[in-house]
Amino acid sequence: MTIGIDQLDFYVPQFYVDMAKLAEARNVEPNKFLLGIGQTEMSVSPVSQDIVSMGANAAKNIVSEEDKKNISMVIVATESAIDSAKASAVQIHNLLGIQPFARCFEMKEACYAATPAIQLAKDYLANRPNEKVLVIASDTARYGLHSGGEPTQGAGAVAMLISHNPRILELNDDAVAYTQDVYDFWRPSGLSYPLVAGALSKDAYIQSFQESWNEYAKRYNKSLSDFASLCFHVPFTKMGKKALDSILTEDIDSETHNRLTSGYDAATYYNRYVGNIYTGSLYLSLISLLETHDLKGGQTIGLFSYGSGSVGEFFSGKLVDGYSEVLNVEHHKALLNSRTELSVEEYEHFFNRFDNLEFDHETELTSDQHGIFYLNDINDHIRNYNTLK
Ligand code: COA
Repeated sequence: MTIGIDQLDFYVPQFYVDMAKLAEARNVEPNKFLLGIGQTEMSVSPVSQDIVSMGANAAKNIVSEEDKKNISMVIVATESAIDSAKASAVQIHNLLGIQPFARCFEMKEACYAATPAIQLAKDYLANRPNEKVLVIASDTARYGLHSGGEPTQGAGAVAMLISHNPRILELNDDAVAYTQDVYDFWRPSGLSYPLVAGALSKDAYIQSFQESWNEYAKRYNKSLSDFASLCFHVPFTKMGKKALDSILTEDIDSETHNRLTSGYDAATYYNRYVGNIYTGSLYLSLISLLETHDLKGGQTIGLFSYGSGSVGEFFSGKLVDGYSEVLNVEHHKALLNSRTELSVEEYEHFFNRFDNLEFDHETELTSDQHGIFYLNDINDHIRNYNTLK
């Protein structure tokens, strides 16, 4: 019996800011953002793209009419919830037209929650061979204008269809999670932006990775040579690289060292142009790896998921023969390449409009985005969504 990722897709808002220009506007040496943080462009959220519309947009092309009859659970992982009670999974379930006899709910643990969602889906499907689970990771990563975290923002969603006999990645039975109560990044209820202990958050991430990886290697008798590539949670591309470098010690053979290093570059290519998408970052990295790197069916990919607070998890999957035929590389390249660049001033307007929920459909909804779901208005605290004609 094999269960895993049968289909996966992502959606990012169609606006971005250039990190070198943002650095100049903030009187920062551009190479700090480009090399020190490792980000080239950053997605910017229009008010019309919240976690519901982005999540539905990420999922709409991978859910067939047949799937809509078989999906019995929709899980949304997010740390940008728009409601403390109603789950965004319910709205996404409705927008996609999934059959009504389904469980729909939201999961939270900072950037980690999509990983337990996938593991839950895997266990749930074990004795339900004909059902499928839709897992969506959707977030707007926001720290505030002029804040320390400003260069590590972004927005986007990843959708994954979990099923038996998956066509992309079989999930192995080998996960190790590591929990530690630490205040490295948190967002008390009512605050618009998170509180961050920047240096601590980097150290906590690396420590969590080392603990998870060492325990995983010991329990399952694995070494780095068993992996074709590793994917990390990518709040910014330098972060996962620091974690990877921390275990590429002198005793690691040069072939393994070079393989994992070049794999890391491929696995962070899309992230470098999107920025942080919190819960979806690890899975955007997986898509980036699969779509920009030369891999083969049967090879093992290691994945490290991290959510501040904190929970880390190392797990693995086996690539399925013919996986590349299921990917939608051209669509993803077009999605990233068709985005509109915003000046820093325009980005600041977008940012403030998003915080104040001030709609500007004329500026934000461009004709080349036809077919996407978007947030049309909010009336009596009820969010109404449309499809762009
Ligand atoms: N050229 C090249 N690199 C430069 C540079 C330059 N001109 N100027 C600075 N840098 C490097 C620094 O040496 C540092 O590299 P290092 O981490 O390898 O030492 C890097 O750029 C970042 O500099 P730093 O001083 O740490 O930046 P910062 O104090 O502005 O904070 C974050 C960076 C990531 C901590 C901050 O953006 C943040 O809090 N982000 C949100 C939290 C987060 O994402 N945490 C990650 C774990 S979840």
